[in-house]
Amino acid sequence: MKSLEVSIAESDFIVVGSGFYGLTLAERIATELELKVVVVERRSHIGGNAFSYIDNDSGIEIHKYGSHLFHTSNEVIWKYINQFSRFNSYRHFVIAKTGNEEFEMPINLSTVNAIFGKNMSPDEARQKIQEEISKLKLEDTPDLESFAISQVGPQIYERLIQGYTTKQWGKPPSDLPREIFQRLPIRYNYNRDYFSDTHMGLPLDGYFKVFERMVSNENIQVFLDTDYFQIRDLIPTEKIVIYSGPIDKLFDYKHGVLEWRTLDFEFENLQISDFQGCAVVNYPDLEVPYTRIHEFKHLHPERENLGMTSIAREFSRFADKSDEPYYPINTERNSEIYAMYRAEVKSCERLIVGGRLGSYKYLDMHMAIGMALRDFDAIKESNFL
Ligand code: FDA
Repeated sequence: MKSLEVSIAESDFIVVGSGFYGLTLAERIATELELKVVVVERRSHIGGNAFSYIDNDSGIEIHKYGSHLFHTSNEVIWKYINQFSRFNSYRHFVIAKTGNEEFEMPINLSTVNAIFGKNMSPDEARQKIQEEISKLKLEDTPDLESFAISQVGPQIYERLIQGYTTKQWGKPPSDLPREIFQRLPIRYNYNRDYFSDTHMGLPLDGYFKVFERMVSNENIQVFLDTDYFQIRDLIPTEKIVIYSGPIDKLFDYKHGVLEWRTLDFEFENLQISDFQGCAVVNYPDLEVPYTRIHEFKHLHPERENLGMTSIAREFSRFADKSDEPYYPINTERNSEIYAMYRAEVKSCERLIVGGRLGSYKYLDMHMAIGMALRDFDAIKESNFL
């Protein structure tokens, strides 16, 4: 393999970060434009937060950064990702466990009936929720708590939303902006699908294979364990840099630090064939320190059911600069800081900044790919080339 210096000298583009955003751009540039790309990744694997690996002991595919279910209604993105793998027909649903009870999530007719201990029809359940909401004198305040109660009523809010949201964001929902919860759907039917997209599933032979195939073009050279900030002096100014790391770090935090929530995962292998009966269980109770438990084997019902299982408990906390950033914290202050960094990017020639860290936005995988495909179109129309 060529050295980093030689590869940079021979390349047209430097892609920083090997998540779906960076690799989609690298793949498109290498395949369609037939140009050379160097990908630098600070971790010891490609794939960003969607990376997975096979656990040596259990033989189960583990999603290192939490369960990743691919879903999209966009035909272009679906066709794009299907070049690299076929997908299984897994459909995602979630159970919430509180006390000794369990409820279906997202909230549906079964959840409403279980909360009230009744057997209501769709119309009766709708009426019941409206009655509960109308008993309260709710003010139209911008916080998440009032908004959530105005959507689902106090009972569902207190059992399923209040504790989970407090744990996930480290603050009571009354101190959080309602925008964090774009909407709280209640379905007055028994549909328990978490996503309502046209296409969903998991790569049949694993995410790690998808990423390997995305970088298989010989025009792409990948350098792992390579932090852009350690090597950026090696990059001549005429190269085009596509950066998908944290945008505030790129400008040395000159306008302030953008805040993130981070996650810690505690992985465990168990000598039983099934721990919880589904891929994700939420734990809304404040006394339980984790927010969710993932059990990865359920994401692939088509695979052989081995006698063991692998689980991960997920804990949420505030991120400091040395932590992996996971969820942007959408406050007014952070939006203002982000806008200043965006303005900086505009003034830099031959620099593209994107992906979830570069755009300070929660992006699902299909959105990261969609952003990369749009940026690729912009590159083709630009005078970069
Ligand atoms: P991503 O973070 O994947 O990649 C960025 C890469 O840049 C990282 O590999 C990082 O190491 C690297 N990097 C950063 N700074 C660098 C530097 N200085 N030098 C070199 N490299 C650097 N989506 C979905 O569709 N379905 C799902 O079920 C889920 N589930 C889910 C669970 C959890 C817990 C989270 C937090 C997120 C999800 N997602 C998801 C979202 C999914 O993870 C997200 O869409 C993709 O990771 C976005 O890909 P990016 O390329 O933008 O970032």
